[in-house]
Amino acid sequence: MKKLAIFASGNGSNFQAIYESMKAGEIEAEISFVFTDKVNAGVIDRAKSVNIPVYQLAQKDFKSKEYFEQEILKLLNEYKVDFIILAGYMRLVGETLLSSYENRIINIHPSLLPAFAGKDAIGQAFRANVLVTGITVHYVDAGMDTGPIIAQQVVEVNPDETIESLEAKIHRVEHIFYPQVIKDLVSK
Ligand code: GRF
Repeated sequence: MKKLAIFASGNGSNFQAIYESMKAGEIEAEISFVFTDKVNAGVIDRAKSVNIPVYQLAQKDFKSKEYFEQEILKLLNEYKVDFIILAGYMRLVGETLLSSYENRIINIHPSLLPAFAGKDAIGQAFRANVLVTGITVHYVDAGMDTGPIIAQQVVEVNPDETIESLEAKIHRVEHIFYPQVIKDLVSK
């Protein structure tokens, strides 16, 4: 069984989807722990309620990103984690984790990269009046949403779409798509 660590800064709905897919036996892996950099992240209660260990550390409490990530690396080593799965982790990953987990850190981004990288990707796409947008899962490198693309899923923008309906639709698709990509990744 491959071991995963999920990194999230927010709500954690993608964590939940991955967890449920594993519980249903669809992914041959286990979640060792959830890591969050935010004290009030919704993912904390979601993880606790299904008995997954949660670790919270804030980068501002460390001298630098390097010291912050060395502490995270200790946890990853302790649990012998194979892959880091970013799911709404709102920080650039630094050299300490990138060099230890080369090609073993992935992220989900709610647009068809390289279009609409960075924050509020769904809003950016909506305001650009695109007819299709989507979801990208990619390997993480030092850039913002720039690593090699693993898989993409197109989501259509309907003529009567609102920002709220588009957000809801993209999240629904993410919750199916991310577990599928992870399933393929861990079974390679
Ligand atoms: C998702 O839209 C994901 O694509 C992006 O951040 C959001 C996280 O949502 N990277 P959640 O915290 O998993 O609900």
